[in-house]
Amino acid sequence: MTDAVASQKRAAAFAAADLVESGMRLGLGTGSTFAFVIERLAERVRTEGLQLLGVPTSIATARLAEAAGIPIVELDAVDRLDLAIDGADEVDPAKSLIKGGGGAHLRERIVAAAARELVVIVDEGKLVDVLGRGFRLPVEVVPLGWTHTARRVGKTGGEPARRERDGEPVVTDNGNWLLDCHYPSGIADPAALARELDSTVGVVDHGLFVGMTGRILVGQPGGAVRTIA
Ligand code: A5P
Repeated sequence: MTDAVASQKRAAAFAAADLVESGMRLGLGTGSTFAFVIERLAERVRTEGLQLLGVPTSIATARLAEAAGIPIVELDAVDRLDLAIDGADEVDPAKSLIKGGGGAHLRERIVAAAARELVVIVDEGKLVDVLGRGFRLPVEVVPLGWTHTARRVGKTGGEPARRERDGEPVVTDNGNWLLDCHYPSGIADPAALARELDSTVGVVDHGLFVGMTGRILVGQPGGAVRTIA
C-alpha cells in the first residue's frame, strides 16, 4: 500500500469512526482500512470516554479491538447493531460491493445484516464502473468436495482458483476454504450472480454485497472525505 492510499483509507476510517455515538453497539469490520477505525475509536474512548460495544467480524479484528481497549461481545449477545463499519475491495455506481479480500465476508455479511446501516469506507481506487474486472471475487466453500464446487462455480462464468499461502489452502475463521474467481469481462449483473452463487451446492458465501450498503465514505487524495449517500 502506498502512503497516498493509506492516507485516503485513514481519512475515510476516521470520518466513519466519528459517526459513532456513545452507547452504540457497533459492527467492527475487517481489513487494513478498518484497522484505522480501531485506532480512532481507541483514541475517542481514551480522550472522550466514548462508550461502545463492538461486535467483530473476524478473529483478527477481535484481537485488534481487545488490544485497543474496545469492549467486544458476540453478535448473539445483542439484539441489534446501531451501525456497522467495514471496508470493501470494489464499489460500483449502484453501491454493490466485492468484499472478502481478507476472507472475512461471511461474518461481515452476518454482522452487517444485523445493523441499521452498513457504512463502507474506501479509498478512491476502489470505485469501479463494473465489479470484478480488477478484483477476483472471493467465494467461501466447504473443503469437502471443493473441486466439484469449483467446477459448479466455473459454470457461472468465473475462473476459480483456490486461495493458498505457502502451498497450503487458506482456512477462514469458519474452517472453510476460499476460491478467488476471475470474471474476465467483469460482473455485469451482481444481483443475478449473487443469486446463482447462493444456490450453488458447496458454496458457503461469496463476496458480492448487493443492496446492503448505506453511506459510502471515500477518502480523497489530500485527506478530504466524500460521502456517497
Ligand atoms: C475482508 O474480508 C474484506 O471484506 C475487507 O473489508 C476488504 O477486503 C477491504 O480490505 P482493505 O481495507 O484491507 O482494503
